[in-house]
Amino acid sequence: ARIRHYRWEVKYEFKSPDCYRKLSITINGRTPGPSILAEQGDTIVIDLKNSLLTENVAIHWHGIRQIGTPWADGTEGVTQCPISPGDTFRYQFVVDRAGTYLYHAHYGMQREAGLYGSIRVALPAGESEPFSYDYDRSIILNDWYHKSAYEQAAGLSSVPFVWVGDPESLLIQGKGRFNCSRKPDSVTTGVCNATNPECSPYVLTVVPGKTYRLRIGSLTALASLSFEIEGHNMTVVEADGHYVEPFVVKNLFIYSGETYSVLITADQDPSRNYWVVSKMVSRNNTVPLGLAVFNYYPNHPTRSPPTVPPSGPLWNDVEARFNQSLKIKSHPGYIHSPPLTSDRVIVLLNTQNRVNQSVKWSINNVSFTLPHTPYLISLKHDLLHTFNQTPPPDVINGYESYDINVPPPNVNTTTSNSLYRLKFNTTVDIVLQNANMIANDTSETHPWHLHGHDFWVLGYGRGKFNASEHPKTYNLANPIMKNTVPVHPYGWTALRFVADNPGVWAFHCHIESHFYMGMGAVFEEGIEKVGKLPSSIMGCGDSKRFIRP
Ligand code: C2O
Ligand code: CU
Repeated sequence: ARIRHYRWEVKYEFKSPDCYRKLSITINGRTPGPSILAEQGDTIVIDLKNSLLTENVAIHWHGIRQIGTPWADGTEGVTQCPISPGDTFRYQFVVDRAGTYLYHAHYGMQREAGLYGSIRVALPAGESEPFSYDYDRSIILNDWYHKSAYEQAAGLSSVPFVWVGDPESLLIQGKGRFNCSRKPDSVTTGVCNATNPECSPYVLTVVPGKTYRLRIGSLTALASLSFEIEGHNMTVVEADGHYVEPFVVKNLFIYSGETYSVLITADQDPSRNYWVVSKMVSRNNTVPLGLAVFNYYPNHPTRSPPTVPPSGPLWNDVEARFNQSLKIKSHPGYIHSPPLTSDRVIVLLNTQNRVNQSVKWSINNVSFTLPHTPYLISLKHDLLHTFNQTPPPDVINGYESYDINVPPPNVNTTTSNSLYRLKFNTTVDIVLQNANMIANDTSETHPWHLHGHDFWVLGYGRGKFNASEHPKTYNLANPIMKNTVPVHPYGWTALRFVADNPGVWAFHCHIESHFYMGMGAVFEEGIEKVGKLPSSIMGCGDSKRFIRP
């Protein structure tokens, strides 16, 4: 195993990924940032210099479990203090399992300003995968807003509440196209420039007859996506770093925080190019398709395909999305069997609520807020006065009679920064229960992401979870392990994990505005087993006392 050392500088720069010029957060001048390419067992060292001048930062390594290094998880308020402007912070951790992962900002709403990238961990030499391909490529799908992350965050916490709205465009590997005529004055002021070379589409060049492994990650701020390559089937082989029993799709639904590998053979008409399309689903919207070019070599890469891009599934085809979720099983040769029973069941009812006129998301009627002193430090050093000590409920009072098909009867909620404490090495089941929002007849998709772990996905259901019936239907034979999973509209999703990674771990909806509005929870396990915390994570709130003058 090797040590891979990176030096990154984070700063604001003007970029026009979709033709519209916007202050974006870059790493070494780029958004998406540089890819981390490593081999299983390598140690990654990143010296991150914060050159944002007036803004803190923190970066999370999404899908990396941080075994033995919980302080390197990069979650501001949970595992570290934010990195101040001018400071350089060292992240150091081991990538212990091959697969496709991501990284992104985990402070405020900075992720959507462009601070993200991909992590590709290869198998050690001599080991092989249960499928083969000629070339390996990675892309990240994203959505893109023109308002600054600050303006959006301020709106979400204002009275009256200002929703962020739908994204302006969809990006494929950091490139998209905004229709400048939608904001005519931005054309005259030169902010929107359709001929800007930065806004050319991403091109995936393929050699006829070859097979490509395409690693696809989504880091959308809001959008659930359907991804497809015109005229080509895709065979899904990996999800969140785990091999899946292969299945073929025409379009792949992918939610923020998920990664998939698909195999694509360039077996269509080589005399032309094809469209690569991402489409926003799950919310009724008018966001234009994200487009890239599937370029058959040696055609010119910018030659537009002669066809109209495929329009993809209907935004509200929930059945199709349930069906894909149900298809994702572990590859038969790589089954890690889950414990057959669990020690604790936590049912998390997801509801939209209000606090003083402002809209929030709550979990069991608690809208989550981050404490000012990171939990990892408070728990390790007994600064228990720094957060609310009343844990949130495992099951909300009245869950039995709660009607998920109507708006919440009691729309008011409370905010809290309390957390769940799990007994070390116990098996925990989480049932995510979706429900109707404040408006009638609406329920959205929420991709939930767990830090520090992979979990088994035991089942998905439509309607309300029934604790005496549904556990009998769990897939204990070949469940996939993942770190991010959707809970579908008016549905439930059941997960199981073993609380065996000492540390404090966030669990939240990966829609950036939803987490900001309180859609999250935090788990602590084995805090007494965590080694000495590095002083570099300290300095904010009550952790100031540990910094020697
Ligand atoms: Cu990729 Cu806590 O998130
Ligand atoms: Cu959500």
